[in-house]
Amino acid sequence: MLEKIISFLGLVSYKRLIRPLLFWLTKRDPEIAHQWVIRRLRQLGRHILIKKCLRWFTTEKDLRLRQTVCGLNFPRPIGLAEGFVKDPLALPGLAALGPGFIIAGSYTAKEQAGNPRPRIWRFPKQGTLINFMGLPNVGAEKAAEEFREFRELTEKYPGLKPNIPIGISISMSAGTTPERAPADYCQALEYLYPHGDFIVINISCPNSVGIAALQGKEFANRLLEAIMRMVKLLAARADKPPKPIFVKVSPDLLWEELNDFLEVCQKYGVNGIIAVNTTIKREGLKGENIPDKGGMSGPLLYERACEFIRYIRQKAPKLIIVGVGGINTGKDAFDMILAGANLVMAYTGFVYQGPMFFRSVNCEILREMEKDKIPHIIYLHSDKPKP
Ligand SMILES: Cc1cc2nc3c(=O)[nH]c(=O)nc-3n(C[C@H](O)[C@H](O)[C@H](O)COP(=O)(O)O)c2cc1C
Repeated sequence: MLEKIISFLGLVSYKRLIRPLLFWLTKRDPEIAHQWVIRRLRQLGRHILIKKCLRWFTTEKDLRLRQTVCGLNFPRPIGLAEGFVKDPLALPGLAALGPGFIIAGSYTAKEQAGNPRPRIWRFPKQGTLINFMGLPNVGAEKAAEEFREFRELTEKYPGLKPNIPIGISISMSAGTTPERAPADYCQALEYLYPHGDFIVINISCPNSVGIAALQGKEFANRLLEAIMRMVKLLAARADKPPKPIFVKVSPDLLWEELNDFLEVCQKYGVNGIIAVNTTIKREGLKGENIPDKGGMSGPLLYERACEFIRYIRQKAPKLIIVGVGGINTGKDAFDMILAGANLVMAYTGFVYQGPMFFRSVNCEILREMEKDKIPHIIYLHSDKPKP
């Protein structure tokens, strides 16, 4: 009870006090707020006692939320989406905030600075973000080195281990032509494959020229064939079964394009789809100075994401689906799982709701399950008949 009261106070104080101050101080360039948070998380994560306290307040430990997907144990169904963390040293602090999994990245084969700043815009009244980041990252080789150092650190101090599945997202280096894309992705994959529990192939970023074209049938065929061949090679090299591979799609695909794309994914044995990335559309967004470049995220994306999930579940019932786009509440997450997602994740909701976000979503999922007399999260999936 005490921890629930403190969690509630944490949520309110973030929304009423910390968030307005942080947003005001960084109104010219919201990315400064993000960098500040990542630095604090790096510091917090180093102190095992503080990490334990954080976890006590923020983490829902109910066993009814646990599930195994692609052989990995997910303690909670909602994770943190790609783009938030690219620094492995921030993972212990982030994991202590209660997500069920985290996807780090996206990383590209070559180091890149991304687009010029400012490249994030906030629309707080609608809980929306527009980002035109352009995948800034240190490059796959350096990122792999950082993950290796992080692993050595966790071997020395096991208390730093995130203890949740960590995915790694890779994408295409700026300036790569679609013809060269398979070689570019495979190079990033070779460096980073050993460091993730699962791998995400991001071919839907709207902020990097040419990436979205990779979802077209011809390029997708060539790309996924090369990637899945490389995965088999890397798995054989490590003498272990291949790690799960997910591909992230854009909500801006037409149904025929999505259909073709799903066919290709199934042909090459991709394990699952992450639906969806940010949208280039601005439907429903109100406000001044709305940039026309960049991808929009947040609640305005929610209906489209659910529509995509329903469609994928119907067309490709065997594929795992990770639903993402506009989740703000536990009810949103619950309904997205009912629409067909095995797992869900969020980015923008976490930015607007702060450190208690994952706990409040998980508690609400449990309340919804109790209302409908559902004894375990697995019975929310369409292929599992309710007991
Ligand atoms: C600032 C920002 C950076 C992002 N960077 C990435 C990225 O590097 N790779 C990726 O696949 N998605 C990226 N995304 C997309 C998110 O992972 C997510 O798919 C999208 O924001 C929709 O979810 P949301 O409404 O919960 O934010 C980014 C989103 C934001 C807002």
